Amino acid sequence: MGKLEPLPGTSDLWHPEAAEWVRLENTARRVMGLYGYAELRTPIIERTDVFVRGIGSDTEVVQKEMYTFTDRGDRSLTLRPEGTAGVMRAIANQGVGEGEEKRVFYCGPMFRGERPAAGRKRQFHQIGVEAVGKLTPLLDAESMVMLFDYLRAVGIDDFRLLLNSRGTREDRQDASRTLQEHFRPHVEEMCEDCRRRLDSNVWRILDCKVEACRGFVAQAPPIVDLLSETSRAYFGQVQRALDAFGIAYEVAPHLVRGLDYYEHTVFEVVSDSPHLGAQNALAGGGRYLIELPGSRKPIPGVGFALGMERLMMARHRPRQESPGHGPVDVFIAILGDQAEVCALQLSRELRARQVRVLCETEGRSIKAQMRTADKCGAELAVIVGGEELAAGQVTVKYMRESRQEQIDREHAAPSIAATLGRKEDPEGMY
Ligand code: HAM
Repeated sequence: MGKLEPLPGTSDLWHPEAAEWVRLENTARRVMGLYGYAELRTPIIERTDVFVRGIGSDTEVVQKEMYTFTDRGDRSLTLRPEGTAGVMRAIANQGVGEGEEKRVFYCGPMFRGERPAAGRKRQFHQIGVEAVGKLTPLLDAESMVMLFDYLRAVGIDDFRLLLNSRGTREDRQDASRTLQEHFRPHVEEMCEDCRRRLDSNVWRILDCKVEACRGFVAQAPPIVDLLSETSRAYFGQVQRALDAFGIAYEVAPHLVRGLDYYEHTVFEVVSDSPHLGAQNALAGGGRYLIELPGSRKPIPGVGFALGMERLMMARHRPRQESPGHGPVDVFIAILGDQAEVCALQLSRELRARQVRVLCETEGRSIKAQMRTADKCGAELAVIVGGEELAAGQVTVKYMRESRQEQIDREHAAPSIAATLGRKEDPEGMY
């Protein structure tokens, strides 16, 4: 049988890379916590309707990329392709009072059936935030400032913030007509999808990735010019707030983003790192308006999501070979059956003092055990054998120096923990 690789567009994540991911997530918890965001974990699987209604039935994600299936109860279910729709479903379930605000942070896997490429996966992972309930330009700006703070905190600084506005639903009715007039003469050059979009949802043409369509899209009027006075003023306030925060941005006149819920501000952070290639969007977000079941009117929110795979690529830490286990401080070698119980007890005493221990479990030759002690990266090897035990002692071998010593079994755990600079488990797990 050949090797069992993970499915295309998915991957296994081993230590030490997995530990790096946890650090990325924890940094997000800390930075976003400074802005009052609290973690929300929504299910990975939802009713299909949550995404169709939330993201928009005319979007690429809903039409072509969702992993949707019918379960045994004949329900249509979908693996979440993004986080916002599920978060809004959860918030609707709780209710948001008039003038109330909810600030949530989330992270985890998302699924889109896209053609896999460098930085484009079918199972990818996002860190995201949503501030739901208020409509103010300052909140949009603060969301982007927080994104900057996070990127800097994880050591990324070669990126650009692209900014635009899509105005409101009302603005888009008039603006759509202008865009249709601009695009109609190019109908022959258009990809098949854009021909359909011309009448059904002309805004999606602005987001088309097909090379042939990029040319006439670039010639389209800047979206902001097509918006109402009020929406342009809102956009101006967002820009002034960003200026006040000292955040640099570029207005991207045709940026509309691929999800239909956006209103007013939209933004993307693109990386200039040579390690990213074509998939250079590290994060995307914006302000939105989503109709929640049970609420009298649509609820506004603003947020963004970062792609963790792309964050890892932008940071470009050289890939390390995985040892197949976590970091180890001590390897306990066992000489003879009688030493087994003592070795197991010692391993627990050490772990209770926060020492990371691997203990021999097979009764192999001492040579094989010392080879493992060496390979696992332990600082100390403790040899527990019949002779030492008779003398009430164990042998401690310093793996990075060529010396060893005998210590009393009775004081072995505190003495080894002290050598390694560890203290008793503060949370009393043992
Ligand atoms: P999005 O732009 O679709 O927005 O995704 C956000 C980020 O997720 C992208 O910038 C990218 O880094 C990453 N990403 C997306 N698709 C893939 C993929 N196939 N492989 C690897 N990484 C990917 C959203 O998902 C919105 N929910 C963001 C948002 C939150 N807007 C408001 N609130």
